[in-house]
Amino acid sequence: MERQTQGDGEKVYIFDTTLRDGEQAPGCSMMVEEKVHVARQLERLGVDVIEAGFPIASLGDFESVREVSRAVTEPIVAGLARCVEADIERAGEAVQEARKPRIHVFLATSEIHRRYKLKKARGEILRLAVEGVERALGLCRDVEFSPEDASRTEPEFLCEVVEAVIEAGAGTVNIPDTVGYAMPWQFGELIQRLRAEVSNIRKAVISVHCHNDLGLAVANSLEAVRMGARQVECTINGLGERAGNCSLEEAVMAMRTRQDVFGVYTDIDTREIMNASRLVSSVTGMTVQRNKAVVGENAFAHEAGVHQDGMLKEKSTYEIMRPEDVGVEKTSLVLGKHSGRHAFRKRLEELGIRLDEGRLEHLFQEFKHLADKKKEVFDEDLEALVRDELEQVPDIFRLASFHVSSGSSAVPTATVQMTVGGELVTDAATGDGPIDAIYRTIDRITGLQCNLSDYGIRAVTKGKDALGEVSLTVQAGALRERGRATSTDILEASARAYLAAVNRIAKRRENGAARGEEAEE
Ligand code: KIV
Ligand code: ZN
Repeated sequence: MERQTQGDGEKVYIFDTTLRDGEQAPGCSMMVEEKVHVARQLERLGVDVIEAGFPIASLGDFESVREVSRAVTEPIVAGLARCVEADIERAGEAVQEARKPRIHVFLATSEIHRRYKLKKARGEILRLAVEGVERALGLCRDVEFSPEDASRTEPEFLCEVVEAVIEAGAGTVNIPDTVGYAMPWQFGELIQRLRAEVSNIRKAVISVHCHNDLGLAVANSLEAVRMGARQVECTINGLGERAGNCSLEEAVMAMRTRQDVFGVYTDIDTREIMNASRLVSSVTGMTVQRNKAVVGENAFAHEAGVHQDGMLKEKSTYEIMRPEDVGVEKTSLVLGKHSGRHAFRKRLEELGIRLDEGRLEHLFQEFKHLADKKKEVFDEDLEALVRDELEQVPDIFRLASFHVSSGSSAVPTATVQMTVGGELVTDAATGDGPIDAIYRTIDRITGLQCNLSDYGIRAVTKGKDALGEVSLTVQAGALRERGRATSTDILEASARAYLAAVNRIAKRRENGAARGEEAEE
C-alpha cells in the first residue's frame, strides 16, 4: 500500500481510547491480558497514542496501564486522571515504565457541570486545571488537558482555560463533545474560535474527543480537523460510553479517501483495521453491525444486479475504498491436521501473536483437537483459539462432559458433569431450550443464582463446520461478569462461556469473603 507522507499535508495524530473510554461501554470491560493483546494490535495499526485506562479507578485499570506501558514501544501510552493529587500520582506511577508516557488530566468546565457536579465557580476551576497540569508535569513531560463538556462551556471561559493550561505546559489540549451535543458546524466554529482567540494556541496540539449520542461523532471530528484540530481521539468500532466515541476506522478512512478535501495524513496502517476490529469485537463481546461503515460484513458487499454489473466493468463505479486497504481479504486457509508445531508457530508469528513456550504447547494441542473436527483451520480460528487461551478464567468449576436431549416434542433436558474442588459432580435439569437446560443444571451444581443478561453467538468463519463463538453476560446479585468461549459445537461453546462468567463471579465472591467484605458492586 502506498503510504501517505508528509508531502500530503499535515499529520493528524490518532489517539486511541478503546482501552479507556471504549471499555466504559456497558458490558465491555476487558481483562489485563486482553488489554495488552489489543494494545499490541493498536501498535501494529500505527496509532500514535494508546489511552490504556484510568489508573485510579481500580487495581485492574492501574495494572492494565502499567502492563500496556511495558508491552508497547512505539505509541505514547496515556493514563487518565482527574485534577486531583491522588489520581495524577497513580497515573504517573502507571505510565512510568512506558517508553513514551503521557498523563491526561481532565476537569469539567461547563456551567452545568460546575454548578451541579463540581459545585465550583469559574475561578476555582481555572486554578484546579492549572494546578493539575503543573502537578502532572512534575511526573511526566508529556501532559494533555481536557476541559470536559467543552462544547457546552461558555466559549470565552473555554478560551481562558485553554490559554491557562497551555501556559502551564500542557502540550495537547483536547476539546471533548462529552455528551455528543454539538452540530458539526458549531463544533468546527469552536475550534476556529480557539485558534483565533487563544494567544498561545500554537504551542499545543488541538485534539478533539467526540461522543456519538446523535450519531455525529465522526462528522464532528472531521469538521474539527478541517478547522485545524490535529489529534483525533477515537475507538475501534466506535466503542465507548453510551452511544460510543468517534470510530477510528471511519475517521481514518474518511481522511484518507477524501485527502483532496482534508489535505492531511495519518500514520495508520489501514490494512490492520479489520484485524483490530475483529479483535476488539471478540474481546468485548460487542458484535459489529453488518452494515457498519468500513468494518461491517456488508461494507464491501454488492447485492443489486446493477451494482454487480458496474463492479464487473469497473470497480470505481461503486467502490470508493478498496477492501484490501482496510484488511478485508479472502480468508486464507492456513493449517490442517497434518500441520506440525513449526508451521503452527510460524503462522502465529505471521499473525503477530507471540506466546511463551507453555502457552504455545497448550495452544498447539487445542489446535490439533480443532483440526480433527474441522478440515480447514483459518486465521480467524487461530485467533479465536488464542483469545480462549488468553482468557484468565479461574477454574473453581470445570466442565467435564454434558449430554442434552431436545426436540420439537421433547422437554429439553441436560445432564452435566463438572469437577468441583477435585470431585466429579453430576446433575440434570430441564429448561425452555437445550441451552437453558444446561444453564439450569450448572446453577444446580454451583449453587449460585445466576441470570443471563446478554447472550450472542457468531460464526468465526464461514462454512457448516465453523467455530461458533458465544459471548454472554451473567448477573448474580449485584455482580456482573462476561464469559466467552468457542467450539465447533455451539452447545459446548454456550456451556463454557457461561462457566467462564460463573467462575469469575465465584472468584470475586471468594476474594470478597477473604477480605471480609461484601463482594457486590
Ligand atoms: O468524554 C469526555 O469528556 C472524556 C474526557 C475524560 C476526555 O472522556
Ligand atoms: Zn469520553
